[in-house]
Amino acid sequence: MTRPQHFGWFLARGFGPQGWGYPSLDWDYDWTRPEIYQEAARTLEQAGFDLVIIEDAPSLGSPDTIDLRVRHAFGGPKHDPLLLAPYLFQATRHLGVVPTVNPAAYLPYTAARQFSTLQHLSGHRLGLNVVTDTGSARHFSAAAQLGHDAAYDRAEEWLSGIRSLWRSWGDGALVGDRETDVFADGSKLSTVRHRGEHYSFDGPLNAVPFTDGEPAIVSPGGSGRGLGFAGANSDVQLALAPLDEASVRAYRAKIHDAAIAAGRSADDLKILFAIQPVITASVEEADRIVAASAHPDDAALVQIARKQSSDLETDLTALDLERPLDVSIFGEHVSRGSIQRLIGDRGEDAPLRVHLTALARAGRIADRSGFVGTADEFADLIEELGEWGNDGVLLWGDFHPVTLHRTLDELVPVLRRRGILRRDHVDGGLQANLRAF
Ligand SMILES: Cc1cc2nc3c(=O)[nH]c(=O)nc-3n(C[C@H](O)[C@H](O)[C@H](O)COP(=O)(O)O)c2cc1C
Repeated sequence: MTRPQHFGWFLARGFGPQGWGYPSLDWDYDWTRPEIYQEAARTLEQAGFDLVIIEDAPSLGSPDTIDLRVRHAFGGPKHDPLLLAPYLFQATRHLGVVPTVNPAAYLPYTAARQFSTLQHLSGHRLGLNVVTDTGSARHFSAAAQLGHDAAYDRAEEWLSGIRSLWRSWGDGALVGDRETDVFADGSKLSTVRHRGEHYSFDGPLNAVPFTDGEPAIVSPGGSGRGLGFAGANSDVQLALAPLDEASVRAYRAKIHDAAIAAGRSADDLKILFAIQPVITASVEEADRIVAASAHPDDAALVQIARKQSSDLETDLTALDLERPLDVSIFGEHVSRGSIQRLIGDRGEDAPLRVHLTALARAGRIADRSGFVGTADEFADLIEELGEWGNDGVLLWGDFHPVTLHRTLDELVPVLRRRGILRRDHVDGGLQANLRAF
């Protein structure tokens, strides 16, 4: 029997210029205004999605590479997704909205109070994508930048502090008795006195307790430390991993083991694998796209080089395509994982053209060599993931209406006919929908 799957949309490139660089840009949307996001949120809710996650980076990166990030809008500008969230809540009734937040940017008391306010305003539909990027630290304090694991330690202290504030109103603290005119019982509020390595604050929180669960905690880190964080703390993990059976099962087992080690159960969190499919109207169209991508022209390679230049904060467009890529050009701060994704198993002697060509090449869903295929082929893949015990998938792209409709128009009815995609949401907010199956 087909298992229903949870669906999320990852708004890649965040609250920024939607669709910049695409031929279909001229739809006269203003990306700084809420309408384009509200329209997309309504579409996703109608499509039966549980949640939308809004990518973010609070920083434009290191001062000497800012031009690489903003020139083609790959790395910025980005406005604050936390402040976009209320507009999306207002446009929908059931969709969970998950802005990305970095513990470096919010003191725990401020965070607990703002998130609590949004959780109540939205009918318990808030989620928080907790990331540990350390590169933006200098915008928030002059303190030395934390290392990778230390940033996770800080995130855990931050989150447990926030949760202790959320829980500072004990059972029965909220009375609301008109007869006796008692609104609340102050003796049931815990004072919370936190003195930690990174934060010190007192409670209790000046906000009422939740009726339908706390905001859902979402996490995307894929390192050992990241998976441990997810197991111990998260309601949803965004998974980026190869989609063969062994890899999917191994990824899930690592998180489940971490959950159990932290005293939780495997059922306490949903793992959503991130996929960016290209849905085509026919098998022939899919074959044509894949065949055409085998021999990308220089314009296509330049487009890929621009995106890589932004992500890697290194100008690849200025390099000779025919010469081997000298990896010493990348600064120490550039993620080794990102460099490895550019180079793959092709070796450092391969010319830059070979690396960019490999990134340009698309593959077919049908033979599992890539993500181009028909709605039915993609539904087959999702069904297969479900058979391996998977909880759901996270589709990603921008919120340009062309992106959404090309991805969803044919896919949604196919998924619904197969019973993979929910037809209705349940009441009770994001946690209730995540736990409905
Ligand atoms: C699907 C996905 C989404 C992510 N979204 C963000 C984001 O919005 N902002 C951010 O700073 N990092 C984001 N990251 C990066 C992670 O937060 C984290 O910094 C990175 O994965 C390094 O942590 P790790 O070493 O544990 O993998 C994302 C990663 C993945 C896989």
